[in-house]
Amino acid sequence: MRSFKSAETTTEILPVIRDRWSPRAFSAKLVTTDLLLKLLEAAQWAASSFNEQPWRFLIATKQNPEEFARALACLVPANQEWARHAPVLVLTVVKDAFTKNGKPNRCAEHDLGLALGNLSVQATAEGIVVHQMGGIEPERIRETYGVPDGYHPMTAVAIGYEGDASSLPDGWTKESELAKRTRRPLRETAFSNSWNTPFFES
Ligand SMILES: Cc1cc2nc3c(=O)[nH]c(=O)nc-3n(C[C@H](O)[C@H](O)[C@H](O)COP(=O)(O)O)c2cc1C
Repeated sequence: MRSFKSAETTTEILPVIRDRWSPRAFSAKLVTTDLLLKLLEAAQWAASSFNEQPWRFLIATKQNPEEFARALACLVPANQEWARHAPVLVLTVVKDAFTKNGKPNRCAEHDLGLALGNLSVQATAEGIVVHQMGGIEPERIRETYGVPDGYHPMTAVAIGYEGDASSLPDGWTKESELAKRTRRPLRETAFSNSWNTPFFES
């Protein structure tokens, strides 16, 4: 649903992409297991190099508070501050090498990103919000969950329903929640002929 957080785009794009954003205020509403299954199924159907599906997910929900606390403790303190209000946390892990030949998978992290992109789009369609985080404690995740060699913890994802920005403490989290979303112009992203030569003029 369009909101003040919806992207202001130069041309029309799919509403589920336009309306996705990364909030830090979450409502107390729980995410059902059925909905979580849908999000993870969407992630599972992402493309991946040689169909390796190098992503793995460690999931913790508020339905199991002890498990949730274990996952929350794997985030850096600044993320714990707001992510503790989300009803679901997912810690993401990637497999370093291809299963079929043991060679390093240069695209593993790229493919995790695709899976999370799918998850985010499905979530938006379901009225659910998603906030990805690089701010994690990888070694703590490895120890807490027994992540084996050959895999590495990558990110975390807070999942839930949009909350009220006024629930956030005054400071940068609230300011960011109330600010318009921005992107640099496409001419600084898409090039042609040589580096920095814009493909699109506008
Ligand atoms: C891989 C990744 C890591 C991120 N790490 C953090 C983080 O540690 N803490 C945080 O508050 N937001 C984090 N974010 C959220 C970004 O700040 C956010 O996606 C960006 O500002 C664009 O805003 P939007 O998602 O609302 O369009 C991360 C996002 C991604 C995709």
